Amino acid sequence: MDRDRLTLADAAEEYRRWTPEVLGALLEYLDAIPELPVGPSVEPGWLLERLPSDPPGAPEDFAGVLEDLRELIRPALVNWQAPGFHGYFPANTSWPAALADFMAAGLGQQGMVWATSPAATELEMRMLDWVARLCGLPEHFRHDHSGPGGGVIQDSASSGTLVALLAGRERCGGRPALADQVVYHSVEAHSSVIKGARVAGFAEEHIRAVPTDEDLAMRPDELARMLDADLASGLVPAAVVATIGTTSTMAVDPVPGIVDVLDGRFDPGGPTRPWLHVDAAMAGAATICPEHRHLLEGVERVDSYLFNPHKWWGITFDCTTMWVADRAPVIDALSITPPYLRNEATESGAVVDFRDWQVPLGRRFRALKVWFVLRAIGPGAIADMVRHHCAEADWLAARVESSEHWDLAVPHRLNLVCIRHRAGSDTTRAAAAELNASGKVLLTVTEVAGEAVLRLSVGSPSVAHDDVVRLWSLVQEAGAGAYIQ
Ligand SMILES: Cc1ncc(COP(=O)(O)O)c(C=O)c1O
Repeated sequence: MDRDRLTLADAAEEYRRWTPEVLGALLEYLDAIPELPVGPSVEPGWLLERLPSDPPGAPEDFAGVLEDLRELIRPALVNWQAPGFHGYFPANTSWPAALADFMAAGLGQQGMVWATSPAATELEMRMLDWVARLCGLPEHFRHDHSGPGGGVIQDSASSGTLVALLAGRERCGGRPALADQVVYHSVEAHSSVIKGARVAGFAEEHIRAVPTDEDLAMRPDELARMLDADLASGLVPAAVVATIGTTSTMAVDPVPGIVDVLDGRFDPGGPTRPWLHVDAAMAGAATICPEHRHLLEGVERVDSYLFNPHKWWGITFDCTTMWVADRAPVIDALSITPPYLRNEATESGAVVDFRDWQVPLGRRFRALKVWFVLRAIGPGAIADMVRHHCAEADWLAARVESSEHWDLAVPHRLNLVCIRHRAGSDTTRAAAAELNASGKVLLTVTEVAGEAVLRLSVGSPSVAHDDVVRLWSLVQEAGAGAYIQ
């Protein structure tokens, strides 16, 4: 083979040889993780300084690429899979998911419509039904139910929320009504809700943050007050976003109470009813355990619901599972069919074209990793992992309750423990900085009622009880040290 004239098509033989090497490099990295600093250990620009400005001319030996992966890329990674990773929410991964993404890349499917990949489309439909069954979601969300509902994989919760807002915009008068349309979310909602509302074109002054109660959950009475005021001034409520498991503290908005407020003002299923979307990006994953299904109370009465298997099911980022009770407003908002996308299958009405359920046209074969993980690891092991993480968070919360320096900032829920130092925000922040600088753990800080709060999120696939014991002793040391300063 002439290396200088290697083509995309004839590299297969060469890469048969490199595939085990790539696998080996990954194994070596995964084995090394416990010894690596968890957070970034390079300064801004470190990698840029080491990457050539000019693209390669002739093909290079792949051995050099692998060497640079080790020397240049690895040091600039954040080790999200490390047992000391307690930041943000997890984005945990697994071997079957990684192999599925490899397979999906090699299969090279473009699943924009059924006709461009029946496999990607129908596997996705069945996987969304499986996940709905595994989490005890209402049956009208499933494709195998005769109604207009169904599920789709979005690239992120942010995209799913944007789609929900577009569906609300569509159902409540469409773009002609946009200037008067209003969106409601709790003050604790994820920033993606505001971003989505802006992208969807809602006026900034019509994006309303509903106050929360002492548990940081949306107050239905405040929502009712805002809706009534807006209706009285001729505005058009178009969407309400509730959160099950907020990012800061895992607070849960009262979905049944929110639905009651809507029922009291709008006909269920009526054309003027604001779209009720539930963002359960993190917490929704826990409903694979029957003991956490109470979180879903009221979800059978909402328009759309999503969670992120890419956070907590080991189904490598990106994979947001989203369900709608009625697909029509979504498709009305997002379907445009130029001549080059017309095809018999679409026109027959017998297929699902997922391009109409999302913003971009093209779509990856993400269902493959759901299929691989559910079949190879199994729902039982995922539920056990969730239980293990929650039990470790319970253990941590109990330690905090009897601690000399730290308090729980809010009652802890699922795998998240939010704590604050008794000496105040500056000390909490100083302790966090010290912990992160140690490289042994990675933690993030949020604010509750203007006060700094350290979030301890347990979700690494490899975290063991000993790691959590170590985390707590590091937090105690940092707390004690910070206190003295
Ligand atoms: C409640 C909630 N919603 C939305 C998001 C955004 O998720 P994504 O990165 O999938 O857009 C997050 C991220 O942590 C979240 O916690």
